[in-house]
Amino acid sequence: MFGAGRIATRRVERLQAAGARLTVVAPEASDDIRRWAAEGRIEWRSREADITDVAGAVLVFAATDNPAINERMAAAARAAGIPVQRADAADESDFLVPALIHRGPLQIAVASDGTAPTLSRRLKAQLETWIPRAYGDLAELAGAFRAEVRTRLPAAARAPFWHRVFDGPIAEKVFAGRYVDAQRDLEAELLAASETGAEGLETRVGEVYLVGGGPGDPDLLTFRALRLMQRADVVLYDSLVAPAIVDLVPSDAERIHVGKRASRHTLPQPDINTLMVDLARAGRRVLRLKGGDPFTFGRGGEEIAELAESGIPFQVVPGITAANGCAAYAGIPLTHRDYAQSVIFVTGHLKGGELKLSWQELARPGQTVVFFMGRRALSTICRELAAHGLPDDWPVAMVIDGTTSHQRLIVGSLSDMPAREAACDATGPALLIVGEVVRLHEKLGWFDPGRVAGQPISQS
Ligand SMILES: C[S@@+](CC[C@H](N)C(=O)[O-])C[C@H]1O[C@@H](n2cnc3c(N)ncnc32)[C@H](O)[C@@H]1O
Repeated sequence: MFGAGRIATRRVERLQAAGARLTVVAPEASDDIRRWAAEGRIEWRSREADITDVAGAVLVFAATDNPAINERMAAAARAAGIPVQRADAADESDFLVPALIHRGPLQIAVASDGTAPTLSRRLKAQLETWIPRAYGDLAELAGAFRAEVRTRLPAAARAPFWHRVFDGPIAEKVFAGRYVDAQRDLEAELLAASETGAEGLETRVGEVYLVGGGPGDPDLLTFRALRLMQRADVVLYDSLVAPAIVDLVPSDAERIHVGKRASRHTLPQPDINTLMVDLARAGRRVLRLKGGDPFTFGRGGEEIAELAESGIPFQVVPGITAANGCAAYAGIPLTHRDYAQSVIFVTGHLKGGELKLSWQELARPGQTVVFFMGRRALSTICRELAAHGLPDDWPVAMVIDGTTSHQRLIVGSLSDMPAREAACDATGPALLIVGEVVRLHEKLGWFDPGRVAGQPISQS
């Protein structure tokens, strides 16, 4: 390797991982190269390149920042019959180094035949985000069972067996970090398949993905959420989930709207729970898609309790809760250290017209309080907080339809917020943020909802 800068260091790292024996020739070197040399993992000749350095090499990389040196070393390598790669001139190289994606034993190479290495790297970056890290673990698991599968299953049953493993709960367990469970299930599956033959593979139990869809902006979905959404064959979604997010579910998946905006429940909670169990038992891959985060005022715990009791495989994917999403898009850092040392998430949902909260604890300076479902109880909330000691001019923000192109932000104080809210005609989900951090919005507000949809700005 001639050169020891950024590109050379990356190459040396990759080549080491592939088991190559390496000699680096360069007067100066990156910290990594110095360290590897000090550890005896590579040889570093700390001097200018010389054509005699190519002797004994099986591959030569000319990766200095001096094209003349690269050219001279490439010529010396060629004269000695050694293939050479020039970092500064792909078309003068004897071989190409593709952009590589590593997932354990799996390797995916992206190459453009030397025409557009930058494009290859961009594609690689996109693929990196699409292929979960745990694919390496999955490949290792498959590798560990490959010989046994060959011995125990007839040739025709092997490919369907592996498809089922890669498509089903076993792979999902690996992705969720439950490698040991996945291993145990794979053993059981193999036993069942070897006893029942190919027909046994058809009687599968489905699974449930309880996924947080975030507060509204589809870009806030996690990679895992998106991947599972695209695997589902039936989706149960709440009213709170933005249509743009439901649209990301495959068009051939069955969509069941189970409602739930305040008291207008389309389907009662026990029925939703039972429906999920029934669908999974029928072998379906069920996506239970919820707004925000399923475990933050989302009844996620109740929904999976029945699955756990019924032995249905499931996994939970966290979402960005409305508290974090709305705060970020309103430019309100919930715990800016100059103003708030803690943050409390609390429900403002009225039960029988009442709101029973520990007002004494909520009405304290030095903290931020976020009220979910608090719009109807807004007057009560403002009145109680003031009655328990917060000043009348204590800042309050209401974010309606946060993170979407319809976001509205109303900023006021405990004394005038109810009147400001009454004057607002937007009816979407609303979050209240109470605390001094609200004032930071004036300086830190950045989101312009109008720009998202190409519509006029609707924040007030
Ligand atoms: C039943 S809770 C569900 C919360 C959800 N699990 C979460 O983590 O965001 C519904 C409440 O969340 C808040 N909410 C959800 N999405 C919102 C949004 N896009 N903008 C403002 N508030 C939102 C509202 O307070 C709404 O009444």
